Amino acid sequence: MNPFPPFKQLKSGSRIPAIGLGTFGSDKYSPDQVAEAVIGAAEVGYRHFDCAAVYGNEREVGGALRAIVGNGVAREDLWITSKLWNNRHGNPERACEESLADLGLDYLDLYLIHWPFPNYHAPGVDVSARDPHAKPYSHDAYMQTWRGLERLAKRGLVREIGTSNMTISKLAGVLRDAEIPPAANEMELHPHFQQPELFDFVVANGILPIGYSPLGSPSRPARDRTPEDTSDVDDPVILEIAERRGVSPAAVCIMWAVSRGQVAIPFSVKRHQYEESFAAACADPLSPEEMARIAGINRNCRLIKGQVFLWPGASGWEDLWD
Ligand SMILES: NC(=O)c1ccc[n+]([C@@H]2O[C@H](COP(=O)([O-])OP(=O)(O)OC[C@H]3O[C@@H](n4cnc5c(N)ncnc54)[C@H](OP(=O)(O)O)[C@@H]3O)[C@@H](O)[C@H]2O)c1
Repeated sequence: MNPFPPFKQLKSGSRIPAIGLGTFGSDKYSPDQVAEAVIGAAEVGYRHFDCAAVYGNEREVGGALRAIVGNGVAREDLWITSKLWNNRHGNPERACEESLADLGLDYLDLYLIHWPFPNYHAPGVDVSARDPHAKPYSHDAYMQTWRGLERLAKRGLVREIGTSNMTISKLAGVLRDAEIPPAANEMELHPHFQQPELFDFVVANGILPIGYSPLGSPSRPARDRTPEDTSDVDDPVILEIAERRGVSPAAVCIMWAVSRGQVAIPFSVKRHQYEESFAAACADPLSPEEMARIAGINRNCRLIKGQVFLWPGASGWEDLWD
């Protein structure tokens, strides 16, 4: 095993650790539990933390980051991502300044537009919740928000700007009209949801793919569960590779992510889990044969469907994804 995680390079030349700790507590883990995990993960070797205003814990995570820097880790060696929540599309600069204040930082390494819709949901809602003012995607509205992110980059408050939960057609429009193109796109990626076309599109356009829910989000909130969902860590191919290598199925999912070339941001508050995920990211890559076998188990099973962002008149969650 290598002692350090691999890095991926962004188009600008910046280097981002290929594994980061997610910080969304899935409506299940408290802000203090997540903050404690951030400190523990830094002890294990994590330097990349995936935050967001809507996770409701940026103040506590900020306290953890201060402790990490206080323990001797240089700020420049950390990679901190945050995200603009849907109800702040109208004023991204103010929202980013608030995240910076909560996190106790002078700058973010990456700031993302969390979802391409200005449609709000309150924390902890169930799958039937709808914003009565919800709207379908508007390229013009998105570009206005994007201009705000470009201003943040020019002001030096964020080093890189990016997108999340996008599709090829939405991204193609942004690439056409952006002054500063997206450096990264955060997207759901795990063996049962590999999104090969979008993955190839972002890579071909110099955008780094950051894969969320890399373990198939086994602890996701009830609003993100449907009966047809499948489980990556129970897939026979994942189980067989795990057994042959003497590692857990979760470790195989992380090895697959890093071997494929995406950044993985697993969440956990349990030390043995985040330690294991970190070790998996540092391990030798999977073999071409193992990669080919996992390529064959894609089920196109989107878990984070986004039903709560639907607008009046939409026919179903598929409308969110073009
Ligand atoms: N951009 C976006 O819209 C977006 C959307 C979703 C997520 N994200 C980001 O991605 C991060 C991760 O996503 P996620 O939490 O949905 O999914 P995930 O990382 O695939 O799943 C996390 C869960 O997996 C279990 N786990 C973690 N490590 C494990 C290990 N080594 N072995 C066995 N089980 C393990 C834990 O379950 P238990 O706690 O039950 O043990 C943990 O709560 C989030 O925290 C967030 O930062 C971004």
